[in-house]
Amino acid sequence: RAADGRAEVPQAGQAGLRLLKRVGVVDPESLDDYRAAGGYAALRTALRLGPADVIREISDAGLVGRGGAAFPTGRKWDATARQPVRPHHLVCNADESEPGTFKDRLLMEGDPFAVIESMTIAGFAAGCSRGYLYLRGEYPRALHLLRNAISKARERNFLGEDVMGHRGFSFDIEIRRGAGAYICGEETAIFNSIEGFRGEPRSKPPFPVESGLFGRPTVVNNVETLVNVPLILTEGCEAYRRIGTGASTGPKLFCLSGNVRRPGVYEVPFGTTLGELLDLAGGVPPGRELRAVLLGGAAGGFVRPDELDLPLTLEDARAAGTTLGSGVVLVLDDTADLGGFLLRIAAFFRDESCGQCVPCRIGTVRQEEALHRLVGKRPLGTSAADLQLLREVGQVMRDSSICGLGQTAWNAIESALDRLGYAVEAAS
Ligand code: NAI
Ligand code: SF4
Repeated sequence: RAADGRAEVPQAGQAGLRLLKRVGVVDPESLDDYRAAGGYAALRTALRLGPADVIREISDAGLVGRGGAAFPTGRKWDATARQPVRPHHLVCNADESEPGTFKDRLLMEGDPFAVIESMTIAGFAAGCSRGYLYLRGEYPRALHLLRNAISKARERNFLGEDVMGHRGFSFDIEIRRGAGAYICGEETAIFNSIEGFRGEPRSKPPFPVESGLFGRPTVVNNVETLVNVPLILTEGCEAYRRIGTGASTGPKLFCLSGNVRRPGVYEVPFGTTLGELLDLAGGVPPGRELRAVLLGGAAGGFVRPDELDLPLTLEDARAAGTTLGSGVVLVLDDTADLGGFLLRIAAFFRDESCGQCVPCRIGTVRQEEALHRLVGKRPLGTSAADLQLLREVGQVMRDSSICGLGQTAWNAIESALDRLGYAVEAAS
């Protein structure tokens, strides 16, 4: 951290990278390379500490989920570990499908053994004997590399019976591929998909920690969340807590896309400002003006150009009326067609709704229709009536949909209306 208390921003490809330190440096097919770069030291530490102390380290580090919802990881592991019913299962959610999200892909393709080691540690801590890696179907390279990593880990006893010679701890991993459905990234839809049913979300509670895959206690963690675990165990929770801010600890991956000069995945400590992150990526193309940034993905919200001093923390994003979500930073400059962009988001949710519950099945259709009229200023409804309809439909979806898809399908559109004044622009 800098002397004035602000987070220091490591430059891409320079020292200071933790989550991405091996990406592009080691051969992702070589277990020996991985071990030479520190791989499997964390699993050794975990086996020495025992499950309870591993969970305490993760909790004390303040690690929260990086898939979007930021639930405390240690609490999830602890709740699962305490369930008397056996077996327990672990699911690594690698169905990365949020538009503008591609950080997990980089981790899986650049450092696949880290994903396998992290899953093994999580399985050990939560008392799981089997892990399922649910992989986005459109990630063939990740599939190849992860299969290779699992096979090599098995050969060298980093998976299988008595892992690393630790008697009584058996753990293995199976890869299951998605088939292109966004909703199958929802954790309970993953369970249905793995079990051979339609990929539709289940009602929660019960939460997976009590009753998840095959009705057993299940830990579900996102890829990036898991890859933080070896870091915590090797550096220690105190050192980890010093990265980021008091309430948002550790490093965070952000996916920069849209009208930005150097799109890509950037690792920075929580607390880096949005402006600093955009500077790392070179800002908007020359001669253009920044129009807005969509933070947190299609379920997130817009940030205006006058708000670039926003610290990228969970708490600051919430206070600004948005979320960091899965780390999406989608940049729009003054040439971007905001109306068309919002329509794409509405069409996306309409298309990806599983149709199981009425508010989302009907609401996403009505939302897209009303937005179409607003954007295109067509007849069949005045702007004022459509604005009211959008708000009512959005609120109903938020209040009464079964899962996060329907609950958040109105977020970005609401944010464009309220924070960017889009309605005024569309009506003028
Ligand atoms: P959620 O808030 O319902 O749950 C978050 C996690 O905490 C889940 O694993 C849940 O089981 C657990 N949890 C919540 N309350 C609990 C309790 N009382 N006891 C035990 N466990 C509990 O959020 P959800 O629906 O799982 O995820 C929504 C997020 O997913 C959104 O923020 C969105 O940004 C993100 N998302 C990410 C995508 C990606 O590609 N990474 C795709 C789509 C959405
Ligand atoms: Fe399916 Fe939408 Fe209901 Fe979720 S909210 S269960 S995606 S219909």
